[in-house]
Order: sequence, then structure tokens, then C-alpha cells
Amino acid sequence: MSYPNWLYTSVGYEIYPRSFYDSNQDGVGDIRGIIEKIDYLKHLGINLLWVGPFYPSPLDDNGYDVIDHRDVDDRLGTLDDIKELIDECHKRDIKIIFDYIMNQTSDEHPWFIESRQSVTSKKRDYYIWSKEPNNWGSFFGGSAWNYDETSNEYYLKIFSDKMPDLNWSNPKVRSEMFDLAKYWLDLGADGFRMDAIAHLGKDMTLTHSRKKLDEDGIAPDWSKFSNRDALYDYLEELKTKVFDRYDMVSIGEVGGGAKLRDAYKYTKTIDMVFNFDACWCLDENKQTDVLELKQVINYWITGMKNKGYLLPQYWLNHDHPRVMSQYGDENNPKVSGKMLATILLFLYGVPFIYNGEEIGMTNAKYTKIEDFKDVSSQNYIRLNKHRKTEKEILNHLLFNSRDHGHLPMQWSATKYAGFSTTTPYLKVNSDYKTVNVEDQLKDEDSLLNFYRQAINLRINSEYTNTFIHGDFKLIEEKSKSIFGYIREDDNYTITILANMKNKKVTYKEQDSEIILSNLKTHTANELQPYESIVMVNKK
Ligand code: GLC
Repeated sequence: MSYPNWLYTSVGYEIYPRSFYDSNQDGVGDIRGIIEKIDYLKHLGINLLWVGPFYPSPLDDNGYDVIDHRDVDDRLGTLDDIKELIDECHKRDIKIIFDYIMNQTSDEHPWFIESRQSVTSKKRDYYIWSKEPNNWGSFFGGSAWNYDETSNEYYLKIFSDKMPDLNWSNPKVRSEMFDLAKYWLDLGADGFRMDAIAHLGKDMTLTHSRKKLDEDGIAPDWSKFSNRDALYDYLEELKTKVFDRYDMVSIGEVGGGAKLRDAYKYTKTIDMVFNFDACWCLDENKQTDVLELKQVINYWITGMKNKGYLLPQYWLNHDHPRVMSQYGDENNPKVSGKMLATILLFLYGVPFIYNGEEIGMTNAKYTKIEDFKDVSSQNYIRLNKHRKTEKEILNHLLFNSRDHGHLPMQWSATKYAGFSTTTPYLKVNSDYKTVNVEDQLKDEDSLLNFYRQAINLRINSEYTNTFIHGDFKLIEEKSKSIFGYIREDDNYTITILANMKNKKVTYKEQDSEIILSNLKTHTANELQPYESIVMVNKK
């Protein structure tokens, strides 16, 4: 695999557009809002922007339910705004990639409207239809099939009811989707985050799963539509017909089931894959399982690096709770946030920061289940209303919901967190007065300024080559508190040590120069609660 040169030194930043910045004060973030904040992103130091879905959509699943893949939702702006955003990024040497939503459309997409009209519709086989549903389950709860009254059959939908899956085994669908990729690349996009690609190939025999059924008679068997052979052929075709002609990056979301052997297959055709393995490494008390976290990160890095492949690194995205509430400590946000930044930003691969992570945004402190709006939260409420108490449901959502990732960005301590001057579409989190960009920009010692410093060290310093290409080796492997690793090349040995727990730990220290730390002083051979240090030995 040959990568675009710029990818090695990229630091990514994901923006969830509806929650980033509301430039026209209607309560919803928009594209012009991103344009207004590009200088902030430049100042932070990132150079690869991933902008989440902005296409026209009924918003059943936050814009991943598209009705026109080639346009911009009125509430978010216009195509001209997108062109301007691309230009403004490029002027500042920031690459920009978009979500390429390949697995499904909205049920309000013209293709589906035509497809469902009758069993003989010309677009019938753009989607996957069956006279009877099988026992497959959907990622968002319940059956993977939805009954359609108009044509008296069921359509496959592995996510929400309103998101019918496209039939990628149909060459016409592939051709339409390939043209779509060309369209955005010709407009200036530098590539894609390829949504849900693990699911493009399905078991088209549509036979029942033999997995154990749940209490509703559903088999949560993702293997029926994940990482299946056919999809690699589709991606190969996409590569030769489209991707090979552009200087671009392709990053596929391959989800939870994917392992290295799958990743090797993917990286024959696309540049990198996002897996989810490092997202939920928690023990039975919901505390960080440092051993598991190290093990999965090491598994992916060594497996990919040994073959010369890159991989993205991230703590969270728009589908996850806030990392501050998960692996961080809300009661010690500055030091624990810096510790998390330290681990992430010196790993081998391409780090991605999620909007708000750089200021330590936390999970929503909502007190009512009605405040949770995400489709998977709503489904959870609907399916559990009669089985669980409201308190149990609330507790589940406070910990797991995707709404946390969608919280409006906290720009300042003014009303609505400076995100908008009008009531935002999703309630602002209550901690915005103490957690916001404006205050942190002013404070030299803030988490935000630490992110800047660490990004700069990664991509603009004498150590850059070591961080980008150097070997990676875990240290303190058996420690249940320390996440430690070494990056090394012919010039430097760089040691990164981070205590992920709220308890002092000891270890055996080598004599080296500290180049970054999250506390004012360091005591040799000790790491204070959440302390992290980066140390160098010149060869
Ligand atoms: C991906 C997206 C998620 C979306 C799903 C269906 O997993 O990240 O937000 O709900 O695909 O498109």
C-alpha cells in the first residue's frame, strides 16, 4: 500500500457538524460555523479534518440516513458553503475528508421510494427484499427487517428502520456509488471516512442465523453482514475505478468484529481501517482495564506496523461516550485529560481527536430519559420500557448513549456555551461554565494548550521522525495502572509513561530528559495519580 505522503504527519480532527458551531443562530451547527472556526483548528495544530454527514436527511440517524448524497441539508448550508470550506482548509494546509455513506440510504431517498413501489420496480434490487423476515438482529435493537405495506415484503435494515441497506451485489448500485465518490473528490475532498463498510457484503442466501436467540427471538449475529468476502471485491473495484486516480486517503470504519486478518484484506484496497477495540476496555466496576487497553492497542499497532501499514488511533468518535467520563476522571479533568492526550498523540499511526476532547468535554448530566435523542437511545428506551425502571434506563444511557458524543461544542461560558444564541437542538451539557474553549485558550496550562503542545511535538519537532516511523514497544506491560511504551529509531529512544489510575505507582526509571509532562514536578521512579511524562534519550 502506498500512502499519500502527507498522511504520515497527519493529525486528524472529527467534527460532528450539527453540534460544532451555529453561525446562523437557529440552534443547529452548520457549515459556515465550521468555516468561522477554521482558524481555531489551525491554532490547535490539526491538519486533517473529518467532517461528519451534512447531506439532506430526515435525521433519523443523525444524517447517516441520506436522501441526496450530492447536496447539503438546508439547515446546515449550501454546496457553495462546502466548496468554501474546502478552499479555506486548503489555504491553511488542512486536508479535508467527508463521510462516504455507503451501506444504506434513508427510506425517503428517491431510490427507495421507487424501489418500494412494487416488486417489479426498476429499482427493486437496489435494496434487499424478502417475503419473510429471517431471525437476524439489527445493531440498533430488534429485527434487522422492516415490513413494507406498499409492496407487502420486508426490507433489510441493519441499523434503523428508516435506513434500508443498499444491495451492493447489484452492479448498478456499485456504479452509482462509485460516481458519487468521484463527485466529491472532483469537488476537492481529500478522501473519505467510509461509513460502515464492514457491512457492504451480506449473506445473500438470507438464511436464519444459528446463534442463540434473545428473548424477542432475534439472533444478534453480526457475521451475517460483517467482513464478508464479497465486500473486498466491491472495494477492489472502487479502488481501480476511482480511488487510484486521486491523491487521497480512504479510511474505512470496520467495527467491532474485525481482526488483523480482516484488516490485511481491507488494506489491499483502502488506506486504513478504524476498529472499535480500544473503545470499551472497562472492568466489571466500569473502571479502565489498563491491561486490556494495552493489549488491544499493541495487537493492532504491531500487527499493522510489521507489514508497513498505517492505522488510525482515537479515543472516541460521534458514536461513543466522552473519553473524559470513561478513561479520564471528571474530578481531575486537567491532569487526566493531559494523560489521555499523551498516550494518544505519540502512538504509531494517525491520531484523531474528536471535537470537544481537547477541552475535556464530559458525558451529559441529563436527568430525564426524554433528553436523550439519538435513535439508538430512543430504541433502547422503547425496547426496555416494560422491562426496566426509568432509573435503570437513565443509568444505562448516562453511561452508554451516543448522545454524549453529540453534545454541542462548548465555546465559552456564555448562555448555551457560546454554541448558539438560541436554544440548541440538543441540550448543552451543564459543565460549560468550567469546561470551554475561551477560558482554556487564555490559560497557558489548560488541557487545550497541552493538546497544542503535544501535537506540535509530534509533527513539528526534532522527534517527529521517531514518532511517525519509529518502532513501537510496550513497557510496564504487566502494570494495571501504567500505560507505557517506547518509540525508537536510530537517533532517539522516547519513553512515554502514563498512570491511568488515581493512585501513585512506582516503577524503575532510566536517566533521561523529560520533554513533556502534565505535572509541574516529577519525582524519579514514581508516577503520581494520572501523571504522564515523555522522556528522551539521544543515541
Ligand atoms: C456508522 C456511524 C454511525 C451510524 C452507522 C449507520 O457506524 O458511525 O453513526 O449510525 O454507521 O450509518
